[in-house]
Amino acid sequence: MARINDHYLKLAGGYLFPEVGRRVEAFRVAHPDADLIRLGIGDVVLPLPRSVRDAMHRAIDEMGTEEGFRGYAPDQGYPFLQQAIARVEYGSRGVEIAPDEIFISDGSKCDSANIQEIFSPEARIAVPDPTYPVYVDSNVMAGRSGPADANGSYAGLVYLPCTEATGFLPEPPDEPVDLVYLCSPNNPTGSAASREQLERWVAWANRNQAILLYDAAYASYITQAGLPHSIFEIEGARRVAIEFRSLSKSAGFTGLRLAWVAVPRELEGRDASGAAVSIFDLWKRRHATKFNGVAYPVQAGAAAAYTPEGQAEVRELVDYYLANARALLEGLGSAGLRTFGGINAPYVWLETPAGTGSWEFFDRLLEESSLVGTPGAGFGPAGEGYFRLSAFSKRDRIDEAVGRIEKLRF
Ligand SMILES: Cc1ncc(COP(=O)(O)O)c(C=O)c1O
Repeated sequence: MARINDHYLKLAGGYLFPEVGRRVEAFRVAHPDADLIRLGIGDVVLPLPRSVRDAMHRAIDEMGTEEGFRGYAPDQGYPFLQQAIARVEYGSRGVEIAPDEIFISDGSKCDSANIQEIFSPEARIAVPDPTYPVYVDSNVMAGRSGPADANGSYAGLVYLPCTEATGFLPEPPDEPVDLVYLCSPNNPTGSAASREQLERWVAWANRNQAILLYDAAYASYITQAGLPHSIFEIEGARRVAIEFRSLSKSAGFTGLRLAWVAVPRELEGRDASGAAVSIFDLWKRRHATKFNGVAYPVQAGAAAAYTPEGQAEVRELVDYYLANARALLEGLGSAGLRTFGGINAPYVWLETPAGTGSWEFFDRLLEESSLVGTPGAGFGPAGEGYFRLSAFSKRDRIDEAVGRIEKLRF
């Protein structure tokens, strides 16, 4: 029999959303007529922008002609899309990212899970706590951790607590680590890093020769002036950071799949002898070997999201979800709950009432209001005592959810 990767067994039993699904299913069976509102998993609900759809239709028609047919896309993405992203997402903010430093992919989930492959199995990893689970699980699968304890913390990983005292974002660790996952605007806490916070991180990484793996999948939700949309807005970041971005939550591409990794040419790691090695070259090699490009119609649709019309449509989508988040913040506040996030992110992070654990709160919301959210403890031990509600829903469902929450007494 083939020997398996034993590290996968450390993951057994631990994934958050199946447990949420199990409890929701049990509730549905017991209450078949309940009108469930699901504000748990963060998936978009609004239709694709018109400009994206039109561009995709045109691209498909083009591929039905002799002259317009295209086979494999370039591994790193079509230059027209790399250029549009470099211009709109970086150049317009005064950020220097060249089109060929952008690696187009089919999702930030895979990118943020795959990046660890180009680093040593001995690399010391730091993750925010609570966190987007992919950063942890991908490193556990790769063997960079010991087993999990009763709280779900894996031995060998460095957890950076995101508490009220730290503004629900991590602070640089006191101990040496090689790679740090950062996520801003943050999933699950909904907080966004200030320029000063990111400057601290970049200075720390430069001092410690660490690399920041910066996931900005929710950058388009930043509304407060002065907050950086990219880590590369920070002086010195090109020597220490890789950035992950996605069209999933901005242009509604969760079902189409398009994201990118920005890897600056200056970024270096070192080999076993201590010699400097280009991270850009390693990622390029990995990408070319393991990825065969995103479909042309999808890349054409993505480029359309960067036209002036596309940008206006994307803004409308994002504003819709942000208005939902505001309504949730108001409703939860009037129900007597303390809330965080929700201003620069589509997630509201709420403190569960005193003495109520996050899974207990999950059960109460489900039983008393037929509402589904996500228990903070599922995102990491420091998430205990908190709960995430997602703003990705239709407005009438959000209003209905707010009405139900306001009837609860905490
Ligand atoms: C922090 C974070 N990064 C990445 C992703 C995944 O993005 P994609 O749809 O591009 O794979 C998500 C999705 O929920 C996320 O919350």
